[in-house]
Amino acid sequence: MPGQIETIPADRYTATIRNTATGLIQSVTVFLFLLQERNEEAVMSKEREIEIKTRNLGVTFKDDQDKDVVALTNVNLEICKGEFIALLGPSGCGKTTLLRCMADLQKPTEGDVHIQGMTPKEVRLQQKFGFVFQQPVLFDWRTVKKNIELPMEIMGRSKGERSDRADEMLEMVGLKEFANHYPKQLSGGMQQRANIARAFGLDPDILFMDEPFSALDEFTKEKLHEDLLRIWRATNKTILFVTHNIQEGVFLSDRICVLSPHPGRLSAIVDIDIERPRSLEVKDSVHFTELVAKVRNSFEGGSIA
Ligand SMILES: Nc1ncnc2c1ncn2[C@@H]1O[C@H](COP(=O)(O)OP(=O)(O)O)[C@@H](O)[C@H]1O
Ligand SMILES: [Mg+2]
Repeated sequence: MPGQIETIPADRYTATIRNTATGLIQSVTVFLFLLQERNEEAVMSKEREIEIKTRNLGVTFKDDQDKDVVALTNVNLEICKGEFIALLGPSGCGKTTLLRCMADLQKPTEGDVHIQGMTPKEVRLQQKFGFVFQQPVLFDWRTVKKNIELPMEIMGRSKGERSDRADEMLEMVGLKEFANHYPKQLSGGMQQRANIARAFGLDPDILFMDEPFSALDEFTKEKLHEDLLRIWRATNKTILFVTHNIQEGVFLSDRICVLSPHPGRLSAIVDIDIERPRSLEVKDSVHFTELVAKVRNSFEGGSIA
């Protein structure tokens, strides 16, 4: 009736409130679920952002008798931003050549490389690359800190800026106390740490590492592996790590690109689905051993020591 206030029985009233509350909770749950999905999508698409792409990449050299040496053929590879990629294969299968093509140190004779949608040369000119090679290229006459500052000096960074950055890098690689030492006063492992610190100095997006630890003893190597993973996580770089050691590749990387020789080619890509952060104990697990076997079995036309 007009003017009459409708009275709702208490049980219906409670039920209405309960239904509204349930509906509200459901809506919020659905909303949160969608939000989470969107976030996961965002994370995944971020993770999937392709940083380096090679298309039908090939390199043919001439040997002493002017004969063709096919170092690499038909390499098609996509590497995502922030990935840790191992390039693995026996000696002479083209690992260094592939790395050099990406880093603009070698011109491909076939196909091309795109990095962040640019040519390797354009990316190199923007100082987005860092390099760590097998032999630490440190200058004897400069202290460790001055060695780390060198690329920043070349790039014209101010004295204060490069000193602060070098201190930060020294701290990161655990060499703070050795800042004023000379390279000859350091062990091989410490020299390689200094080398890593120098490579990170200019804050590159992509780090190229060509068998950086192969000259080091096992204990030093393992410590550096753990430290490298910590630094990689903290800095979110894309790392291309060349190695001929299967265990090293499995322990460090997200994916292993297996290169096989004669001619050098990409014969397999193996996902390394070991949880992170990883500690050395993971090497004792059955899964680690299985992955090592899987990688070893993926070589074609050649075995690996
Ligand atoms: N500058 C060059 N001139 C001629 N041949 C080369 C040159 N660089 C590499 N090669 C040849 O290309 C092949 C791949 O070499 P490389 O990429 O250094 O292999 P890896 O790093 O896997 O040991 C080898 O057969 C090597 O001898
Ligand atoms: Mg090599």
